[in-house]
Amino acid sequence: MITAYDFQQARQADAAGVDMVLVGDSLAMVVLGHEDTLSLTMEEMLHHVKAVRRGLSRALLVADMPYGSFHLGAEQAVSNALILVKEGGAQAVKIEGARRGVIEALASAEIPVMAHLGLTPQSLHKFGGFKVQGRGDAARAALLEAAEAMEEAGAFALVLECIPNQLAAEVSERISIPTIGIGAGAACDGQVLVYHDLLGLEDRIAPRFVRRYAQQGTQAREAIAAFAADVRAGRFPAAEESYGDPLDSTVPMPAEPVKLYG
Ligand code: KIV
Repeated sequence: MITAYDFQQARQADAAGVDMVLVGDSLAMVVLGHEDTLSLTMEEMLHHVKAVRRGLSRALLVADMPYGSFHLGAEQAVSNALILVKEGGAQAVKIEGARRGVIEALASAEIPVMAHLGLTPQSLHKFGGFKVQGRGDAARAALLEAAEAMEEAGAFALVLECIPNQLAAEVSERISIPTIGIGAGAACDGQVLVYHDLLGLEDRIAPRFVRRYAQQGTQAREAIAAFAADVRAGRFPAAEESYGDPLDSTVPMPAEPVKLYG
């Protein structure tokens, strides 16, 4: 699974052959520039889910439920999840935290739901920061119990974020739904990374669990700097990148029809 937030990112992920694309609420941080995910609204999430929907033809589309969109209870959760499914085209939603009642309500409304335990960024203030979870006997037991409860409640998969490898392995062994790890070691059934982390677009923070498969941030800066230098030096555009007037024989006129976005 990989995250994506717009049409082009979704196209790339789909063509690359991933099984699932998540419009994560990391949207708030990597795309919208917020410090954390807490301020993200349903409107913002819906806007991006619609764009990602247009870019996918194969992978399963999972939409994250923003902070505050399900915290008032099952009715609020189902109502907001229905918006993401009916208007956004999501095929499943993801819920952070061990919210058994909410997951049961979504599952019984026939909305496939992915659970998410461990370092759930929406619990930032409760955790007192972004810290590895599930360390120590009590925390370990609580996470195991919560994972079983998520499966019983009807979740179809479980994201495990920033927990010790051994605990993720034990959870993956104990429950029958797939676990998808991020900072949870290699024993999970699948893995997820944030698009901007995987491609090296986000270079401000580099968590231990991120592997950068490309350096697109550097490449983008170099390309834009080259464009700016060419414009300043009068090297862009060249004649073949411009249109001529057919009545003026001194300027070449392209034979092909003009192609624009509109
Ligand atoms: O918001 C997000 O991108 C996520 C993934 C990191 C699992 O929840």
